[in-house]
Amino acid sequence: MTTDAHATAPDLATTSPFLRACRGLEPSHTPVWFMRQAGRSLPEYLAIREGVPMLESCFRTDMVVEITMQPVRRHGVDAAIFFSDIVVPLKAIGVDLDIVPGTGPVVADPIRSEGQLASLRDLEPDDVTSITDAVRGLVQELGSTPLIGFAGAPFTLASYLVEGGPSRDHRRTKELMYGQPDLWHALLGRIAAIAGQFLRLQVEAGASAIQLFDSWAGALSPADYDTYVRPHSAAVLESVADLDVPRIHFGVGTGELLTRMGDVGADVVGVDWRVPLDDAIRRLGPDKAVQGNLDPTLLFAPTDLVHRRAAEVIEAGRAAKGHVFNLGHGVLPATDPDALTRLVEFIHTYERTA
Ligand code: CP3
Repeated sequence: MTTDAHATAPDLATTSPFLRACRGLEPSHTPVWFMRQAGRSLPEYLAIREGVPMLESCFRTDMVVEITMQPVRRHGVDAAIFFSDIVVPLKAIGVDLDIVPGTGPVVADPIRSEGQLASLRDLEPDDVTSITDAVRGLVQELGSTPLIGFAGAPFTLASYLVEGGPSRDHRRTKELMYGQPDLWHALLGRIAAIAGQFLRLQVEAGASAIQLFDSWAGALSPADYDTYVRPHSAAVLESVADLDVPRIHFGVGTGELLTRMGDVGADVVGVDWRVPLDDAIRRLGPDKAVQGNLDPTLLFAPTDLVHRRAAEVIEAGRAAKGHVFNLGHGVLPATDPDALTRLVEFIHTYERTA
């Protein structure tokens, strides 16, 4: 067995249905993975996390490897998503923050002035050695299943840093964006450098694709997205362009931003469930693969309805350059894991009639 993570990469790129679909090549079956496939829907996750705070678990190599593997073993998904969080690189450079159960990321000293930017120094490889060790271990253990690395996009991370926690209307974030545009661009530039480096380190350690999560970009009008966000998301994706791995870009409620999210340098655009997949494909044009987009709450519906809707998503996906099946956002914690396993089985055995 080789210890060079990249030695197996060319092989994976041609054999993995997930990587083939990302690149617009015909896969042997429609590939599927789920955002938040690792997490509270799995009893084995709840068991291993017992008594260990979320952020601590993200810096423990053995736990990251085990938790990332859990949904791959259980559901047979076509890709693993690295177990971490979008705020992990910020924690790694010393930002005082925590992930509060039931709430999400909470920042002790929200950033609202120029002087505070100094706390956002560059991410260095030594800051995340336990994490890159986990990537290397995972690539060995995953074998023919590719690993997706990820980062939070500048707007979504800025929202946590400026608000100090989750926000419904992103009021303070936009107040800074509109009122202090120089500080805003400096802040997003710092975050873009950190996110880009976090992605780079994951790929250099062996991840075969990356996803940039701009979960809260749907709060922006297209014009504000162009002015305040687009150059910074583009900088993150551009900074990993030389690594030659598929770049997936996803946000929630981003129907009106889809073409822009493709234009910032994505190979694959994630689509939430509010936009019919065929509409999304028309908007994106022939050069983008798509990922999505079953409503996560459909997993609480009767199995025959889940399968009917999943078939509709697969059929709609055929019009795209490539299609990776996913939910339109993350798995809800109350989801029955067996419903996810059944859905994977259905997708893998669904007859391709095209
Ligand atoms: O399977 C996976 O996708 C695993 C890795 C993953 C996590 N967070 C683990 C996690 C990923 C890709 C994320 C990304 C993330 N984190 C995003 C972008 C994706 C999205 O869902 O839109 C965002 C916005 C965050 C910030 C964050 N972290 C939130 C909103 C929460 C939930 C708070 C809660 O308790 O409901 C977290 C915590 C978090 N991140 C958990 C997990 C498994 C739950 C922690 C726990 O088990 O207590």
